[in-house]
Amino acid sequence: MENRGSFGSKLAIILATAGSAIGLGNIWRFPFTTGQNGGAAFIIIYLACVLLLGIPGMVSEFIVGRRAQTNAARAYALLGRKSWRFVGYLGILTSTIILGFYAVVAGWCLQYLFAAIAGQLNGDAQYIIDYFQAFSNDPLKPCLWAVGFVLITHFVIAQGVNKGIERISKLLMPLLLILLLILVVASCMLPGAVAGIEFLLKPDFSKMTGDVVLEALGQAFFSLSLGTACLCTYASYFKSDTHLLKSATQIALLDSAIAILAGLMIFPAAFSVGVEPDSGPSLIFITLPNVFQQAFSSVPAVGYVVSLLFFVLLSLAALTSLMSLHEVSTAFFQEELGTTRKRAALIVTVTTSVIGAFCSLSLGAYDGLTFYGEALFDWFDFVTGQIFLPVVGFLTCIFIGWFVPHKIVREEFSNYGELKGYVRYFHRYLFLIKYVCPLAILLIFLHQLGWL
Ligand code: PHE
Repeated sequence: MENRGSFGSKLAIILATAGSAIGLGNIWRFPFTTGQNGGAAFIIIYLACVLLLGIPGMVSEFIVGRRAQTNAARAYALLGRKSWRFVGYLGILTSTIILGFYAVVAGWCLQYLFAAIAGQLNGDAQYIIDYFQAFSNDPLKPCLWAVGFVLITHFVIAQGVNKGIERISKLLMPLLLILLLILVVASCMLPGAVAGIEFLLKPDFSKMTGDVVLEALGQAFFSLSLGTACLCTYASYFKSDTHLLKSATQIALLDSAIAILAGLMIFPAAFSVGVEPDSGPSLIFITLPNVFQQAFSSVPAVGYVVSLLFFVLLSLAALTSLMSLHEVSTAFFQEELGTTRKRAALIVTVTTSVIGAFCSLSLGAYDGLTFYGEALFDWFDFVTGQIFLPVVGFLTCIFIGWFVPHKIVREEFSNYGELKGYVRYFHRYLFLIKYVCPLAILLIFLHQLGWL
């Protein structure tokens, strides 16, 4: 059996795990969800969800993974009864499905990156809409980009935990931050940008409804990569002296900061040219290329560079998230089938390429992949985001809070008593994980199903 490997340093742990968390969820989904749900008011609820539910949830997944030092399915079975294995399975299934449809959007980002380089995104508003429609209705192109992105991910994962995940995360994450900061500055310097900044920072509490809370929780889970076994799998590569609570807090704060920065990149530019911020998922592929062009129309070269950097940013963010999704099933197949890492990775790559291709086709080229009026892509998004993630999150809280012996939980939380100052946080954590988190997730879930 090959050595499992482990992350080489604290920095590697933070960057790799933040790489999983920071992705299209932050740069694409967060801004338009914020736009649709009232700006700053949504952000406040979102941050509350991160603090009260997200961080304890992350610590719990970390505890399972680091204690067991194995893939997610085996990890749940090792810490509790055998039957808990199914939570691991559900997490693995979720990450496999997400990998399939996430790769589709990631593929669009790559196509747009090349289009930006070739200067094909120049034209009036109608041209950009037509461009997107022609591209997304093409049967072959988006499929090929999606599969291409899965292949790139494959090559990183096949290199292993250190030479693959760790090395690429250390390289890409700082680059991502630099690119984002450049774009935020460019956007905030535009005339009329203040309106966009205000929209993000001035809360409108009239927009706070039950649905908004629901949306915020779903977004927090997705953005922190919770409920997909990614955190559990990465934690199986953590060292025994890693502070789990501190790391979870740092990663959650970094993830939230990047999401808010993404808002500060998009809204000021959109407001500056008078575009509404709530244009939904098409925001980055239709609204933004337009916004960049108009906003920098006096110096087209700047517009060109900005839109190019923007799609580089998106592609990098997508890659580090896809790596973690891929790793979950690769680790599983490698250990359960007793095969080599390369073979395990290949199984995952082939499976998810097929899922990705079907998801891609369902979005335009092939109507037969539509069920009850919704494309396969949207079904997968719905089932994983609205059902599987909360269910795995809920069960993980119940598992750690009620089934795993508290002695084990405490040992992992405090690194076998090494972290003395952490004892006072332990009781708060346990309270949150036993009562608050499961109850909150349950209420939100029932509300979502229309039963409350
Ligand atoms: N957190 C990633 C993002 O925000 C997406 C993701 C979800 C990655 C679940 C891994 C697991 O884009």
